[in-house]
Amino acid sequence: MTDDTSRWEAVDDYYDDALSISDSALRGALARSAEAGLPEIAVTPNQGRLLSLMAKSAGAARILEVGTLGGYSTIWLARALPAGGQLVTCELDPKHAEVARQNLTDAGCADLVTIHVGPAAETLSALVSGNEPAFDFVFIDADKESYLTYFELALKLTRPGGLIVLDNVVRKGEVANPETTDPRVQGVRACVELLSRETRVEATAIQTVGAKGYDGFILARVLE
Ligand code: SAH
Ligand code: DHB
Ligand code: MG
Repeated sequence: MTDDTSRWEAVDDYYDDALSISDSALRGALARSAEAGLPEIAVTPNQGRLLSLMAKSAGAARILEVGTLGGYSTIWLARALPAGGQLVTCELDPKHAEVARQNLTDAGCADLVTIHVGPAAETLSALVSGNEPAFDFVFIDADKESYLTYFELALKLTRPGGLIVLDNVVRKGEVANPETTDPRVQGVRACVELLSRETRVEATAIQTVGAKGYDGFILARVLE
């Protein structure tokens, strides 16, 4: 396992370098986040670019993110926006939001991004009742226990043809264990159970390995 992990890291580093994935603003965001004591659980550089490519491919002009942390994935997604695009991101912890604000400012993306500080379920519910214009792309990456709630609310906030991406849905394979006692994995499985019945989306899961271990994404497209 140790062997595998170091190879996954080496390949992530290889592509990060070979494809010029990271730049100084992205590296700076990770460095500032680490200095501020934030957990080192942002998406990897390769995954950040993947999110950005998906958002661009979807033609996303309005992006919603659930779980900002230090704004690393936020920078990637904000950079995918066309001129006049907007990104709304939700973060519970005011300290994380403050670090994110600084990182977004340094990356030159702050003008496109609104950070809502507070429990994401409340923020998303307020967006639903506030007749927020629909989003084209949603990235769900906050507390896994609430994925079902976030997905249900995201579905109400996403336009037909829009894409909803969920992070951390594999968890070293534990997601396939129906007896799992990990509440985070139980949260993911509850969301998958909804997806299995939900006729308004077409979904798949992609397993990933890399610098952040063995995990994966769900991609769910809202039918037109
Ligand atoms: N998307 C980020 C990583 C997010 S980590 C990146 O890849 O760069 C998950 C974040 O969700 C943490 O910052 C955590 O504070 C936040 N979070 C946890 N519970 C939350 C809640 N109930 N509402 C909003 N954010 C929450
Ligand atoms: C955790 C959360 C994340 O969003 C992530 O990408 C990796 C790990 C966690 O809470 O452990
Ligand atoms: Mg994550």
